[in-house]
Amino acid sequence: MANKAQIAVASWGVRTSFHSLVALLVAGIVLGVVYLTRDAEQPPLDEDRAVILRKTAKMASLAPAPSTSKSISTSEQDCDLFTGRWVFDNVSYPLYKENECKYMSDQLACEKFSRRDLRYQQWRWQPHGCDLPRFNATALLERLRNKRLVYVGDSLNRGQWVSMVCLVESAIPPNLKSMSAKHNNSLLIFKASEYNATIEYYWAPLLVESNSDDPVNHRVPDRIVRVQAIEKHARHWSNADILVFDSYLWWRRSQMKVLWGSFGSPDGIYKDVMMPRAYEMALNTWSDWLEVHVNRSKTQVFFVSMSPTHERAEEWDGEEGQNCYAETEPIAKEGYWGSGSDPGMMRVVESVVDQLKARGLGVQILNITQLSEYRKEAHPSVHRQQWEPLTEEQKAKPISYADCFHWCLPGVPDVWNELLYAHIFHNRTQRLENRVDGL
Ligand SMILES: *[C@@H]1O[C@H](CO)[C@@H](O)[C@H](O)[C@H]1NC(C)=O
Ligand SMILES: *[C@@H]1O[C@H](CO)[C@@H](O)[C@H](O)[C@H]1NC(C)=O
Ligand SMILES: *[C@@H]1O[C@H](CO)[C@@H](O)[C@H](O)[C@H]1NC(C)=O
Ligand SMILES: *[C@@H]1O[C@H](CO)[C@@H](O)[C@H](O)[C@H]1NC(C)=O
Ligand SMILES: *[C@@H]1O[C@H](CO)[C@@H](O)[C@H](O)[C@H]1NC(C)=O
Ligand SMILES: *[C@@H]1O[C@H](CO)[C@@H](O)[C@H](O)[C@H]1NC(C)=O
Ligand SMILES: *[C@@H]1O[C@H](CO)[C@@H](O)[C@H](O)[C@H]1NC(C)=O
Repeated sequence: MANKAQIAVASWGVRTSFHSLVALLVAGIVLGVVYLTRDAEQPPLDEDRAVILRKTAKMASLAPAPSTSKSISTSEQDCDLFTGRWVFDNVSYPLYKENECKYMSDQLACEKFSRRDLRYQQWRWQPHGCDLPRFNATALLERLRNKRLVYVGDSLNRGQWVSMVCLVESAIPPNLKSMSAKHNNSLLIFKASEYNATIEYYWAPLLVESNSDDPVNHRVPDRIVRVQAIEKHARHWSNADILVFDSYLWWRRSQMKVLWGSFGSPDGIYKDVMMPRAYEMALNTWSDWLEVHVNRSKTQVFFVSMSPTHERAEEWDGEEGQNCYAETEPIAKEGYWGSGSDPGMMRVVESVVDQLKARGLGVQILNITQLSEYRKEAHPSVHRQQWEPLTEEQKAKPISYADCFHWCLPGVPDVWNELLYAHIFHNRTQRLENRVDGL
């Protein structure tokens, strides 16, 4: 399988458009994630998830999206944007057309890859107590003037970055936008030159350093994590104005090999550490870095919660042995939660973020897990670029190669970005930080 990535790298020389670059990079990442999650042991599903209190998001008054349900004034009202339901809305959605987005990734372009049922593009997220503000690309670009918005994480986060680029790029004339790559392709930069604004993506699937840090060639069988080292990555986003992190799927193993010392150093110490503890160590390194380096009067920080997978149809009363393949409708059951999402890991994130808050830095969790759980039909499944010809065996059994991890675009990650948009404009982290600035 390693030669797959090498082929991709080799062919990079002859392909020139950035579109191809993104496609190639995403290819490697897709393979990596599928490989590791298939091999991973499933962490046990905690029983007491239901009793965890949901945090509420206090929303400022923002122009509400057109809504078929009752529209409650959102001004100074407590509203949990992450609790709600999906409403079919083919008038407002999709927010952009797949084939009109210049920077679309072939890994996520399901319509281009022969998907015929397109309802997955047309669902609106309707929070129970209020409406999401309508996404306005011009307003966001103005907000980002002279600023950097940087997504940092794995291929799910990359999908959200592609979504954001697609959401804003139609508002920019062709000669005033560009795409480039830096730092050996670890950093991808979309630039809106009229605004001097960039929307960037940095590949760091485990946030801290690991032997999977190469943005293309990262499919290593034996994953090694330097849980105490983040500087090599962080220096590339240290002056960002808005940071959006994620890290989940690459941790789905029962234990991780942790390295103290550097790669290749004879003094390095390797230890197998149970996964939740290794995850916590890495997130603590991440939060220590933020505490010291983030300028509280400048930077807003977000963490996107786990992105659910749909690999076991029996969990949503589908047929045993099936997965997301050929699904066409969301799950209607309120509170549905599959075994692909580990509440224990969510609690690790919450606890690290709470401790950071106590130390004066607010990080907003974009709690997209529950709302995405419902969307079993919104994954690429077999409708994406395949990087090797399919075998006869695979063709005969589509579920064997269906991608039930990533998300088609337009689709679910657009809603994650609408939630991010709502929080960027509310500027809530700022207020907490102002309070502690004097310390
Ligand atoms: C996120 O949502 C889940 C359930 O939807 C909840 O259990 C969890 O506490 C929430 N986390 C935060 C930080 O809001
Ligand atoms: C929206 O969906 C309804 C019901 O499925 C259909 O009758 C209508 O033609 C659709 N409208 C558009 C613009 O696709
Ligand atoms: C979008 O935002 C811009 C800039 O703030 C504003 O001029 C425009 O009216 C907004 N568009 C809509 C449809 O609200
Ligand atoms: C352009 O934006 C960058 C941040 O991305 C900033 O450092 C720089 O000063 C800006 N340039 C101008 C001319 O404002
Ligand atoms: C740059 O990327 C190539 C191909 O992915 C990789 O082989 C090489 O080791 C990387 N170089 C550095 C300095 O990271
Ligand atoms: C933090 O950011 C503010 C606003 O951009 C700036 O005025 C200030 O100089 C920065 N502080 C430091 C220590 O860089
Ligand atoms: C938050 O809002 C305040 C006041 O509107 C503004 O001065 C500040 O720059 C904003 N903070 C960020 C991080 O954009």
